[in-house]
Amino acid sequence: MLRRLRRLRHKRLLLIFFGGLSIIIFLAKDSASQLNHSCGDDSAIALKSQIGYLKNKLAQHSINKRYSSVAVKDNPLLPFIYVIMPTYARPTQKADLTRLCYTFLLVPNLHWIVVEDARAKTRLVSDLLSSCGVSYTQLNEPTPADWKLGAKEASWRKPRGVVQRNEGLAWVRDNLGNQDDGVIYFGDDDNTYSLELFEEMRHTSRVSVWPVGLVGGLKVEGPRVKEGKVVGWNAVWSPKRPFAIDMAGFAVSLPLLLKSPKAKFAYEVRRGYQESEFLKHLVSSLDELEPKAEDCTKVLVWHTKTQKVKLDMEAKLKDRGDPPSDDGVEV
Ligand code: UGA
Ligand code: MN
Repeated sequence: MLRRLRRLRHKRLLLIFFGGLSIIIFLAKDSASQLNHSCGDDSAIALKSQIGYLKNKLAQHSINKRYSSVAVKDNPLLPFIYVIMPTYARPTQKADLTRLCYTFLLVPNLHWIVVEDARAKTRLVSDLLSSCGVSYTQLNEPTPADWKLGAKEASWRKPRGVVQRNEGLAWVRDNLGNQDDGVIYFGDDDNTYSLELFEEMRHTSRVSVWPVGLVGGLKVEGPRVKEGKVVGWNAVWSPKRPFAIDMAGFAVSLPLLLKSPKAKFAYEVRRGYQESEFLKHLVSSLDELEPKAEDCTKVLVWHTKTQKVKLDMEAKLKDRGDPPSDDGVEV
């Protein structure tokens, strides 16, 4: 009885969801024929946000949980974007991932591969992903003890995300094939991504590149482009790197990645050379790179860094014999 009721409820929700989608598609077609070009862009964004809203609601009603580890296509005509993203437990993790969830909900055909730096998947990340509404795969791979940053250690001393990104790549290689069309992108969980960025990278033949804001000690670091070709790098920190570009500044086509089994990240490389270590297996000369974002003149991703939060008052609570402020609350 209870199961029948639940099934009925699910059917109703599905009806509402697909009904909503059909109305949106109908309205999109209708308004596209009436509106001029710039208004058309605005209405496309408004419609995407409504689809994102519906995906989020649907996830919260737990109907699409069975899709959790397969990529769900919103639009059969668009290539997929697979975002490989390491993440680790810290006080700001949920805030950072929540922000990303609401960005990615607005991007069609995006599959979020979240790799936790942990021995086991955590409840916080599982719950967040399953109620977000973005198509995702949750993985975990702990950083080896020798490579884990100590609490007081300067962050530049050890590269982060190495084994997690390799785990994401292994999933891609094991689960996707030549029939799949798509692009692979590596994101930090505390960066800021514009929606335009994803449309720039979506059609990548081999490796596409663009500038990244607020990185390498500069307001913007990125490829130097002449006559539509990448000829060098606008970087000041370690400018001799073969690819003087941040992890957030490039994407790789899925067919090329699948043809290049050696392309991965490694600990045994010079500081700042992770990107070059990976890209050297995919690109033999700079002119093979595809400059995006209007010949690399626009910044569509920012290397923002979430500040480490001060929680010193928690100690005071403890001294007073009170429970921690998040007792029974997930923050
Ligand atoms: C910069 C680059 O933007 C990163 O792509 C690169 O991995 C990193 O330097 C590096 O070379 O180590 P930064 O902002 O300084 O990144 O580093 P974080 O954002 O703290 O870490 C990068 C990614 O690794 C994040 O997604 C983060 O969640 C993850 N991470 C960090 C872990 O999985 N485990 C950790 O212990 C720390
Ligand atoms: Mn970061």
